[in-house]
Amino acid sequence: MNGQVKFIISQKHSSQQFESQEWQKIEHAFKQFVGLEHIKETLKSIAAWAVINQKREEFGLKTEKQSHHMLFYGNPGTGKTTAARVMATLLKELNILERGHLVEAERADLVGEYIGHTAVKTRELIKKAEGGILFIDEAYSLSRGGEKDFGREAIDTLVKHMEDSSGRFICILAGYKREMNGFLRMNTGLKSRFAHLLYFPDYTLNDLNHIAVNMFNIKDYKLSKPAGDRLLRSMREMGDISGNGRFVRNLTEFIIRAQAVRLLKYEELTKKDCMYISEDDVLKGIEGYKKDKQDHQ
Ligand SMILES: Nc1ncnc2c1ncn2[C@@H]1O[C@H](COP(=O)(O)OP(=O)(O)O)[C@@H](O)[C@H]1O
Ligand SMILES: [Mg+2]
Repeated sequence: MNGQVKFIISQKHSSQQFESQEWQKIEHAFKQFVGLEHIKETLKSIAAWAVINQKREEFGLKTEKQSHHMLFYGNPGTGKTTAARVMATLLKELNILERGHLVEAERADLVGEYIGHTAVKTRELIKKAEGGILFIDEAYSLSRGGEKDFGREAIDTLVKHMEDSSGRFICILAGYKREMNGFLRMNTGLKSRFAHLLYFPDYTLNDLNHIAVNMFNIKDYKLSKPAGDRLLRSMREMGDISGNGRFVRNLTEFIIRAQAVRLLKYEELTKKDCMYISEDDVLKGIEGYKKDKQDHQ
């Protein structure tokens, strides 16, 4: 189908069946992630719209094409890239995107070095993203150089294709809230091209704890009760975490390595030994993390 997106849910099922089947797929895809409720709700509305559009077509009613370009706002580590990745796969599963791949890009991938180069680069990237998602991180950097900068050309090319090929790919622009607001103000008319504006709030301490516990579980590790308590307490004490999921991932990796170092001292190992994280592992892991952070400052 030439990279065309099929906005069609082909199975003929009742709307109730749809609600249970398609929405389950959405819930399932995000199962291992904490929060992101607003993303799930948006996806549910897109999936519902696609099904109803198909039904309307069957009844001979007018149908419309919709584009689903999105803006993601939020601090680093709040799950923007993660959500885009899951979304791409899921939209393929829901028959809304043909290929369901994610093309991650930043300023340098769009902006060229001489007149005309940028439009070519941007078009190539859009072509690569057909049937999937084009995810542009730190999108505000496209307007960094002001009027004369080639970033403008990238934005213009992008906007043109977003309109023309509505439905063939989804463009997601991501970035920090303040910078993105400034960027949108500089490019009047840009904001209206995006059907979905999604804010990624900072994670609370409880969310972060939940994310950490999930990460251990997914990797077949278990925290002992004191280890779990210690982790929560330490995260609270560290205080500078500002809702950051990446921080949690790094921390869990330090803790896992601290456990490995401890286990190497054992003469014999059981399955349980290999699974359990002790309070001391947590302490050592956090120590390692803090030291690493200091060294890189
Ligand atoms: N809701 C979440 N549930 C579980 N892990 C998460 C969640 N959000 C972020 N993470 C973790 O934090 C890391 C950073 O998230 P990422 O999507 O790269 O953030 P951003 O793109 O907003 O900077 C990811 O690798 C992921 O492991
Ligand atoms: Mg990111």
